[in-house]
Amino acid sequence: MRILAFEALRAVDERDAYANLVLPPLLRKAREEGDFDARDAALATELVYGTLRRQGTYDAIVAACVDRPLREVDPPVLDVLSLGAHQLLATRIPSHAAVSASVELARVVLGDGRAKFVNAVLRKIARDDLDTWVERVAPPYDKDAEEHLAVVHSHPRWIVSALWDALGGGRAGIEDLLEADNERPEVTLVARPGRSTADELLGSLEEDAGLPGRWSPHAVRLVEGGEPGAVEAVREGRAGVQDEGSQLVAMALANAPLEGSDTRWLDGCAGPGGKAAMLAGLAAQRGASLLASEKQPHRARLVERALAGNPGPYQVITADGTRPPWGPGVFDRVLMDVPCSGLGALRRRPESRWRRRPEDLEGFAPLQRALLREALKAVRVGGVVGYATCSPHLAETRVVVDDVLRGRGGNTPIEAEWVDARPLMPGVPALGDGPDVQLWPHLHGTDAMYLALLRRTA
Ligand SMILES: C[S@@+](CC[C@H](N)C(=O)[O-])C[C@H]1O[C@@H](n2cnc3c(N)ncnc32)[C@H](O)[C@@H]1O
Repeated sequence: MRILAFEALRAVDERDAYANLVLPPLLRKAREEGDFDARDAALATELVYGTLRRQGTYDAIVAACVDRPLREVDPPVLDVLSLGAHQLLATRIPSHAAVSASVELARVVLGDGRAKFVNAVLRKIARDDLDTWVERVAPPYDKDAEEHLAVVHSHPRWIVSALWDALGGGRAGIEDLLEADNERPEVTLVARPGRSTADELLGSLEEDAGLPGRWSPHAVRLVEGGEPGAVEAVREGRAGVQDEGSQLVAMALANAPLEGSDTRWLDGCAGPGGKAAMLAGLAAQRGASLLASEKQPHRARLVERALAGNPGPYQVITADGTRPPWGPGVFDRVLMDVPCSGLGALRRRPESRWRRRPEDLEGFAPLQRALLREALKAVRVGGVVGYATCSPHLAETRVVVDDVLRGRGGNTPIEAEWVDARPLMPGVPALGDGPDVQLWPHLHGTDAMYLALLRRTA
């Protein structure tokens, strides 16, 4: 099982693979080969995800136990050491078992010489617990708060800094947020409006396997062990897996007050179709139709699949939202859920925080602005645009909206006014000063989705 975890870590490291894609086939193969049960699979998954999430902390601890810079330690050796450190410092596996199993793994995958090195390093690590190590290797908070938090909560420093800028406040809030990124998120289902209900989903789950959503009447939270595939409505496409934050964003756009016609809705960045499926269902209940547009053909096919069976009219097209085939002023409601860094969903992809670079934001910046500009052009006067990201980074959220409204960067300003999004998320606490909304994992249990609502005024 540890070999399997090691193979998964190598794939993530060497091939830039995603842990959630690499792991299932490895687990399946291990099950087919026998002698590998559900408990082994759960432990292997925990080892891989936990090691990846806590990589920053483990790197700092390993660095304190070796006599050369970490970059001079071979990556496969580092993977075995991190896996060992995770077992020693963050699981209930007894220390002697964690060390001997890691040394055995090293012998098999690295050879005898390097197994001795692994043994020596892990024995040093085993001498103290996680808190003691962290206190030793992290700089004091008072000297360098961001670096302290980066080491303690295992995030790259630039991400700590960006999240803190967006969250504001003191130490307690940012610590809670960073820790929430290290927790495994609940799986949340959405009962697609008009096709299923939360009660149906709850009724089809074993007792105690599901809970109603916290905020969305369409949501059901799966409790430990609950399987989406066990729910008939999910298998039939009448329900799906969707974070509650995404549901709130789609509902807020659908419920924003509107005068005049309300028949034509657009989702301009629809793939893979989670929000589009929800919008299409809500549109159908109002006699409106949805145009779901996506640039990538394979993702447009996923949108087709998510919308198939929708009770009302809809169309899925493959189109570049920055050079849209639709004319100006034709829609009543438009969602632009733009491509972004995904810093709001770090808890879902354990490796992503180590892959992202600050430069990535510069890549997204022009596209996000162009897509928002086109969204505002696509909507009629009085119509509403929802600009959404799965990132709380200010450079992807409010700064983009401000730039577009003011015409920064040589573009003409667009006449639109903010709509307060907070009343459109009734019952949801801690939504800040508005008018835009930033959701947070530690406050709302959702991904850190951002929503700005704008009404075209001229
Ligand atoms: C954040 S995702 C949207 C998620 C989607 N709204 C959902 O809830 O399932 C952004 C999507 O925009 C698409 N995209 C990227 N550039 C685009 C462009 N120029 N025009 C339209 N879509 C684009 C990406 O392929 C991706 O599928």
